[in-house]
Amino acid sequence: MNTLSLEQIQQIAESVLKEKPPSVPAWAWELSDREHPSRTYYAFLHALVRACEPELVVELGTDKGTSAMFLATATWASVLSIDCDIRATEHLQEIACARGLVNINGFTGDTSKRPAVECVKAYGRPIDLLFIDTDHSLAHIRKETAAYFPLMRPGGLVAYDDIHINAEMSQFWAELDKPKIEVLQPYWAGFGVSIA
Ligand SMILES: C[S@@+](CC[C@H](N)C(=O)[O-])C[C@H]1O[C@@H](n2cnc3c(N)ncnc32)[C@H](O)[C@@H]1O
Repeated sequence: MNTLSLEQIQQIAESVLKEKPPSVPAWAWELSDREHPSRTYYAFLHALVRACEPELVVELGTDKGTSAMFLATATWASVLSIDCDIRATEHLQEIACARGLVNINGFTGDTSKRPAVECVKAYGRPIDLLFIDTDHSLAHIRKETAAYFPLMRPGGLVAYDDIHINAEMSQFWAELDKPKIEVLQPYWAGFGVSIA
């Protein structure tokens, strides 16, 4: 894995605001709503993965699999996406099969519970990039950081969507005691990255 500084992370964010990463396949863009601001963070996640050259990427919160596809198309490394809704996991697997993506797996479970954490541990290597995007409550993100931070590679990256979507997430971000940077402003919901 390449370790990145906060300055390099900021530069990557600025670059995707100017120009879409050419390595994102056209079909991945079609998965996202053309007008939705999340398209910018999808592009950013893709560019971040390409820059850090991870061995293991973990996403907490699959939903329709859109961010998972932007992560998985940026690397040959393993990408694991976890969601408590089995329909999200099934949908992810359908898209991956349809697109011939062999490096992505889904797991159904509560991200704060042991089976999900054990699934990550079963990869037998540290997490290089963790993307947190599930239940945006203070109690839940605290459980996630307690469970997954010890599994991070030193210097690994943690990306967080929605750091200002509510007062609890703003409190979490303010109190996060890691090197960190807010990127992609003025994205209203807030997007942050910290270094493990
Ligand atoms: C905002 S969506 C994820 C969007 C996705 N990362 C993207 O950008 O394309 C949040 C997802 O988190 C899942 N979720 C909420 N609470 C969860 C929990 N405790 N454990 C696992 N998944 C959870 C929901 O089922 C939902 O699919």
